[in-house]
Amino acid sequence: MNLPGHLTVRDGHLYIGQHDCVALANEYGTPLYVTDEERLRSNFTRYDEALKKHYSDVQLLYAAKANGNLAILRIFSSMGAGADVFSSGELHMALLAGIPPEKILFNGSSKTKEDLALAVEKNVRVSLDSFDELRQLNEVAGEAKKVVEVSFRINPAIDVPTHPKIATGLATSKFGIPAGQIKDAYRAALECDNVEPVGMHCHIGSQILDVEPFTKTAEIMVKVAGEIKELGVKLDFIDIGGGLGIPYRHETEAAPSPDQYADAIMPVFLKGIQKLGIKPQLWVEPGRNLVGDTTVLLTRVNSVKTAHKKFVNVDAGFNLLIRPAMYDSYHEVIVANKADAEAECVYTVTGPICETGDILASDRNLPKVEDGDVIAVLDAGAYGYSMASQYNCRPRCPEVMVFGDRSGVMRRGESVIDILNTMKKLPWHESNK
Ligand code: LLP
Repeated sequence: MNLPGHLTVRDGHLYIGQHDCVALANEYGTPLYVTDEERLRSNFTRYDEALKKHYSDVQLLYAAKANGNLAILRIFSSMGAGADVFSSGELHMALLAGIPPEKILFNGSSKTKEDLALAVEKNVRVSLDSFDELRQLNEVAGEAKKVVEVSFRINPAIDVPTHPKIATGLATSKFGIPAGQIKDAYRAALECDNVEPVGMHCHIGSQILDVEPFTKTAEIMVKVAGEIKELGVKLDFIDIGGGLGIPYRHETEAAPSPDQYADAIMPVFLKGIQKLGIKPQLWVEPGRNLVGDTTVLLTRVNSVKTAHKKFVNVDAGFNLLIRPAMYDSYHEVIVANKADAEAECVYTVTGPICETGDILASDRNLPKVEDGDVIAVLDAGAYGYSMASQYNCRPRCPEVMVFGDRSGVMRRGESVIDILNTMKKLPWHESNK
């Protein structure tokens, strides 16, 4: 199987960086998420350099939802990243990681007044998604006697070739302001005393493996920028979101590199802003492309069963990696302790969750699998742990980082006690045993 540079096979075992995945599974237990710090760093640099080659005023805003571990945010922060945050929790994390407020955009289609108040308090910019939100933010900022800089999320109404559940720029999507209302939105913002429109934002979807929709988006954004400029808005930034995909199918899928992405969109963006005579910062919000391939999920085989087909029952399920169940996503799997053995059988790898859909990988050709083997699920760094749950009262597993010859826990595993501690006995049940 084609493996990215940080994954290798040595003496029959799968390695991540300098670390034997089997040894990591034995040391830290399974299930276990393992992330390679060097890969995180090189992914960030690759993306950043690809865009800055064309235009120096580019700011990467890491989409914290893709993988919200504080250690990862700290690494990106130290490399100059900003953050796209989608909740008050993500905002707190980004600030804790040392990301300066001026590099943070508070996104979201359904923010509470408390979210807006926190954005005002922390002096971050806000991407607005409705007229109601504009009014509420103006009120909240007024109470704090501040002026908040904002963008609107624009719905570019374009179709993108990805799973329908993660296409966000469709005309029918819940996100953004439709084309016909954009000018009114900026006009309304200009009339507010405590809100100042300074940017434009959009995000067309995720896991996009074609550059064309991004180019089209850049075209639409600079066109709308022209209309907004006419209203008297001075645009400090244009944010074109994230969405660049990765090749989950290592043998057959090709994904554009950040260079190819930048080479496609930047001429359109640059031509557009030159024509308008403006020099806004270009903001981009990559998530998956920075973290997706950095991480493996290690899971141990509990049992192998032959029924109408061969099932490999492992200790991680959709409680820890929901992507296959939710989007029919494909993740490569490797038997980490038999990584160079010949494939012998077709297996379906299933988790321990009480649902028929708890399948991590269907019908894969693998070497003979036995209980005790360690299976590595690849490309689990984006929307893996961050979408994990405690379904079936299963504590979430630890996350480990490797860096050179070092490894360490960046999030401890939860225990059943952690789960139980959030529950309270109701006063009217006190007398019950
Ligand atoms: N910006 C905004 C406003 C977003 O909503 C997202 C992702 C991103 C940036 C980052 O997109 P990326 O570069 O990672 O594609 N759970 C799904 C993906 C959901 C994406 C949500 N928004 C999955 O596992 O495929």
